[in-house]
Amino acid sequence: MKVAVVGAGLMGSGIAQTFAQAGYEVVNIDTFASALEKAKANVDKLFDKKVAKGKITEEQKKEILGRLNYSGTIEDVKGAELVVEAVPEKIDLKKTIFAAIDEQADPDTIIVSNTSGLSISEIASATKRSNKVMGAHFFYPAPVMKLLELIRGIDTDDATYNKVKEIAGTIGKTTVDAPELPGFMVNRILVPMQNEAAFMVMEGCDPTDVDNAMKLGCNFPMGPLELTDFVGVDIMLGTMKGLYSGFCDSKYRPCPLLENMVKAGHLGKKSGQGFYKYDENGNKID
Ligand code: 3HC
Repeated sequence: MKVAVVGAGLMGSGIAQTFAQAGYEVVNIDTFASALEKAKANVDKLFDKKVAKGKITEEQKKEILGRLNYSGTIEDVKGAELVVEAVPEKIDLKKTIFAAIDEQADPDTIIVSNTSGLSISEIASATKRSNKVMGAHFFYPAPVMKLLELIRGIDTDDATYNKVKEIAGTIGKTTVDAPELPGFMVNRILVPMQNEAAFMVMEGCDPTDVDNAMKLGCNFPMGPLELTDFVGVDIMLGTMKGLYSGFCDSKYRPCPLLENMVKAGHLGKKSGQGFYKYDENGNKID
């Protein structure tokens, strides 16, 4: 079965890798050649590490990477039974991409969005197959995190939902049914916590203390600020803004420090500076 993943950023390339690892033929599509090159280089590097650690053999690496193709044209969604969209979180962009996918994809193809909080029903309205559109929200890093949030739009039919749930099982993901509301399920709980942690830094707390508190006090694998740097300060702030505007509730007020960090280009690990500093390999500098 062929799967097309549109968008080759951090999430898109990880989702493409996840499907290729599970045995699917995958094409990862992005109109930016630089994004495709970066995605390919990152995935190659990850697999080199797995070989070096003895987790997989060189042959297994070649086999998996042989199933993972890259393309600069949306027409390559043709022949895919499932298309996963993972482009930036801008509703107009998503609608344009969905309209283009709808035009090129086979009539029975299911199209899912990896949006972390935008309206599935609105995205689906850009297509002529809104019954075959739904949300399938992966978590970063997509090949590692076991959860897949499933979000039905108003028109999503049972056959589409059941098929996506079945496919989720084949790639080793456990699903939860999340409501079509800002933040869905995880981000509605997680991101306000990250936002609160940023408020504490703004009030003078040391970022390492805040992270250690949550790691050692709650057994979190990463502290909330480390996680913000890991996912991207801009991505986290965007989600918080979505909660604030979507619920019209002041309890979701984004922390001003996050706004200033994004304006300054302190986007976390990917820019080398967030709550912490990072070297060119993404390792934290003390
Ligand atoms: N991409 C792909 N795989 C990655 C990765 C990445 N960026 N980072 C780590 N991995 C893989 C490694 O290859 C390794 O795989 P292997 O065991 O097969 O070799 C495995 O993850 C473990 O990596 P490490 O041993 O290097 O590191 P850790 O044991 O410290 O685990 C972690 C790293 C899994 C990222 C762990 O710290 C963790 O679970 N952190 C929390 C992540 C989290 O909360 N994610 C949710 C973010 S919110 C979100 O996604 C919402 C969205 O809308 C933005």
